[in-house]
Amino acid sequence: MKMKARTLANSTVAAVLFTGLFGWSATAGDVTQNWNANCAACHGKDGKGETLMGRRLQIKDLADPKVQASFTDADATKAIKDGVTENGRTKMKAFGGKLSADEIKDLVAHVRSFKSPK
Ligand code: HEC
Repeated sequence: MKMKARTLANSTVAAVLFTGLFGWSATAGDVTQNWNANCAACHGKDGKGETLMGRRLQIKDLADPKVQASFTDADATKAIKDGVTENGRTKMKAFGGKLSADEIKDLVAHVRSFKSPK
């Protein structure tokens, strides 16, 4: 009786640990989830910036090839890491303290994927 309860308890702990670890790595590594959680409020899920915040900030349409051509991957990386300011006002906050270099790299690729041929 005692043995059985113990085995059950151990496997419950293992299951919780496994779910915890797996759940964590799935969110941390998923660029779409990162985009939706941190960026979509302004840029929109599709990058077009058709959101309340996007309109207020007169955000550029990231699906527009002209907009895509207006910045390099290095510019995009810097914007995400250090934020965007205009005339001393923060338009986009810095994410360097929140996201890892790898996550930012993935987000730059994600931004590029919005480009639609016109
Ligand atoms: C508070 C609103 C807001 C949030 C949240 C936001 N951005 Fe921005 N982002 C802006 C604004 C405003 C600009 C300035 C250019 C524009 O008007 O589109 C910008 C510009 C950019 C640019 C273009 C940089 C350039 O050199 O032109 C990229 C790339 C970008 N954002 C990616 C992201 C990513 C990735 C996230 C999430 C980690 C994010 N943004 C979150 C508002 C936001």
